[in-house]
Formats: sequence, structure tokens, C-alpha cells
Amino acid sequence: KDFSGERTGFVEVGPKKWVFPSGYTKAAQSIYNFKLRSDDVFVATFPRSGTTWTQEMVWLLCNNLDFQTAAKVPLNDRFKFLEFSCFIHEKVKEEFLKENMANPEYYKIVQSIDNPRWETLTKSPERRFIKTHLPFSLLPPSLPQAGCKIIYVARNPKDVAVSFYHWNRSIRTQGFLGDFRKYWSYFHRNLQPWTPYWEHLKEGWNMRHEENILFIFYENMNKVNLRQSIEKIAAFLGRSYSVEELDQLESYLQFDNFKNNKSVNLDLIKKLGIILKDEEPFVRKGKNGGWKDYFDNDIDAEANEWIEKNLIGTDLRFPA
Ligand code: A3P
Repeated sequence: KDFSGERTGFVEVGPKKWVFPSGYTKAAQSIYNFKLRSDDVFVATFPRSGTTWTQEMVWLLCNNLDFQTAAKVPLNDRFKFLEFSCFIHEKVKEEFLKENMANPEYYKIVQSIDNPRWETLTKSPERRFIKTHLPFSLLPPSLPQAGCKIIYVARNPKDVAVSFYHWNRSIRTQGFLGDFRKYWSYFHRNLQPWTPYWEHLKEGWNMRHEENILFIFYENMNKVNLRQSIEKIAAFLGRSYSVEELDQLESYLQFDNFKNNKSVNLDLIKKLGIILKDEEPFVRKGKNGGWKDYFDNDIDAEANEWIEKNLIGTDLRFPA
């Protein structure tokens, strides 16, 4: 009763009990065996951790700051979401097709919406840019040694929970109806897609010393250290740019500019009806510590205890 969406159902996967849309079951093996190329670039995150922002930065850094193509071609087409088709249940697709019947352009897009991205990527002759929310243990095991570059972005769980709450209200297949307190009760009990959050993060954290993996915190990237983060990521990707070019990229990625960027704001899936129109936009507030507006004392105490418990035995710590 807390969800209005045509939910696709969820599956629990493996001993860590990952929660995924049921379509993952069919995709799991193909994704695990996905053939890597040494020049692949991955952005891997738990959802709502600054994925889109990092993707756009990475794509531009690798593509000579080609702002023109970035404006013309939606980020989703330049940077494929590996497991996207797992969300699109047949029934949901049928409905989207029916709704978009009157518009041949949209109808055609919906027809290919559940094409497995790993197949498209396998056929692609171009350099591949890949987004995933899957944890490392479900990705091809040779990933750290395959020569490709992987940027893992982590964000503190309180802000992730708030951001994910809004996203789950927006996305029609979920259509979360409850308030934040209710959402939190699902999130911290690992009853939301891609949870358990901590396992996801720890798998990323444990990989941070691998030569081809860069582990970064959203909090460090946000506001004050954006320039430093751009430089760090550029160095990791083996790219260098002039001060003026970096100035331009930094300004392009600033929240106030980025939130008006049509190429990253999922305008198309909004038009197709996959996102409910009235909720907050995908690039929403972009704040460190925005959770304070949602957590009352009880939720905060519970969250702190949960965080403390999960940090035992790891040196993972979030930037202050
Ligand atoms: P909020 O909902 O807290 O605002 P993802 O791309 O992984 O789904 O992450 C989305 C989160 O990143 C959202 O957080 C969004 O606003 C934030 N974000 C996107 N672009 C940003 C930018 N340029 N600066 C800061 N935060 C940004």
C-alpha cells in the first residue's frame, strides 16, 4: 500500500541478499560474463550518490571537452546504464507502448527500451562509457585487472536515503506514497532496490587501492572541492587540460548550471511517462547535509546507531 507503481517485483540475490528488480535474474549471468575492453570507463555507485554528475564529468574529460555533443546527445546514450533493462517488466513496457501510441517517435523509443544494454555495448565499435549501480561482486570478476578505469562514488547514507526517497516518489514503477519516516524504515532495513547500502559501499571501499579504481566521496566533490575532484579524476583518466578549459568544465558542472542541463535531466523519460511529472527533478538539491530537513530526533538516533554499527571493523569514514 505504500507504492502506487506497476512494480516489477524484487528478488533477493546471493548470500548478501541484494535487492533488485526481478528482471535482474535473467540478466545476472550475462552481466557477470560481460566481456570487458581495456579502454572501458565505468562509473559505479549506489543510486543517488552523484552518478550522473560524475558521468558527465568523466565523459567530457575523455572526449576533449566536447560540450557540443554533450548538449546534443543525451547522457544516457553516451554513457549506457548496464542493467537498465532489468527494470522494464513486460507489463510495464506494454503500458508505456499503449500510452505513447500517438507519437511514432516516442513509440519507437519505448519499443527498444528493454534492449539489454550489455548487448548494445558488446556490438559497439566505439569506446564504451558504462554506468552501473551493481556492486562489485556482481560485475565481471576481472574488472579490476582488465585495464579499464572505474570510478566509484560514495555518498553518506542519510543524504542518499533522502535523495532516494524523492526518486522513488518520482519513478512511476515505484510511486512511493509514504512520508520520509516510512521510506527510511524500508531503506535502513535493506528493503529497497540495490540495498544493502553498506555492503555496496564496503565492496567499493575494499577496492580503493586497485590501480584502475578511483574511490571518491560525493561530499568531497560537492561545492568546495569540485575543482580538485575534476583534476584528480582527469589525472586518473590520463587527461590534462589548460586552466581555462578546467574553468569552463568546472562552471558547466556547478549545480546551478547542471540542474538546467537538458541532456542529463531525463527529459525524455519524463515525456514518455516513466517519471511522474510533479515530483522534484532528477538533479534536485545537490546539498551536503540536506538530510537535516527530513530526519527528526528519533530517525536521527536510529540512523546514527545503524551507521555506527556498520562502521565497526572498517576504516571507511565519511568526510566531515
Ligand atoms: P539530491 O537529491 O540530494 O539533490 P545520482 O545521479 O546518482 O542519481 O545522484 C543524484 C544526486 O546528485 C541528487 O542529489 C542530485 O541533485 C545530485 N547532483 C546532481 N548534479 C549535481 C551537481 N552538479 N552538484 C551537486 N550535486 C549534484
